[in-house]
Amino acid sequence: MRILQLSDTHIERTAGPDRHGVDPTESLRLMLGELRHQRDVDAIVVTGDIADDGAVESYAIARELLGEFAARMRVPLFFTTGNHDDRAAFGKVLGSGHLAVDGSDLARTVLSSAEGERAAVSVVRGYRFITMDSLVPGEVYGGLSDAQLDWLHDLLRTSAQRGTILAFHHPPIAMDVDIQRTFGLRNPRALGEVLHGSDVRAVLTGHFHLQLLGLLASVPVWVCPAVVNRVDLTADWNTERIVRGASASVIDVGGAAGPLFHTLHARDPRAHETLSERDEDQVMDFIDARGRMR
Ligand SMILES: [Fe+2]
Repeated sequence: MRILQLSDTHIERTAGPDRHGVDPTESLRLMLGELRHQRDVDAIVVTGDIADDGAVESYAIARELLGEFAARMRVPLFFTTGNHDDRAAFGKVLGSGHLAVDGSDLARTVLSSAEGERAAVSVVRGYRFITMDSLVPGEVYGGLSDAQLDWLHDLLRTSAQRGTILAFHHPPIAMDVDIQRTFGLRNPRALGEVLHGSDVRAVLTGHFHLQLLGLLASVPVWVCPAVVNRVDLTADWNTERIVRGASASVIDVGGAAGPLFHTLHARDPRAHETLSERDEDQVMDFIDARGRMR
């Protein structure tokens, strides 16, 4: 099972540079152009922050570009929500978030919850793909509701033929960086209890705009770098530097050594140019303003 993962496309309905000076649609086009030589891909997963502005028009752009690419590869396409996304607009354009090659909705099971979270299950070549919704409306950080964790727990009682891939936006792992610890998934322990002893082979996430691998209940957790830009940790500790450069991941799940995770970078003569920086005080102010549990 080979998965192409993209994350954090941050599409905006109006063309042109975003607040960091990058056109997100162009960044996605560039990345998809660079991914055209990938072979034997079985599925494409896009882990949230699809639209920066949560607008229907932005999801339509993402669906058109990614849908065309997936159709050319003849593989299904999965989307999850992120903190920038809007559940209603996402659902209007992407349905359950699980799209078959012909564009129809592929999901076998969809969570129905009071909050309208976008969570669904499909099966591809014997692997079960479960997408969940870690969006907490109005917040940068994420969480998985009890409704979703109970639903996941029920699903995982039965093993899939070849294993399960779980995808959502906010990483349940973090380095010792304040911004990661504050704005990741707030309830990793509860998720770990559900994953313990299950057939989940990999957890695919995004949100941090960098690549990172860790374990949760012995399950590999991958943080896919972003399409729109990159967070550069060579900056001074607890400051933030955002640089230019689109990336994606290729993941080989089966095989003796799997899961294998690799990062693909789009060639861009301006890659690594600094787009924005926040010093330690500015980072602390941001954490104080947005990181509090309300
Ligand atoms: Fe995010």
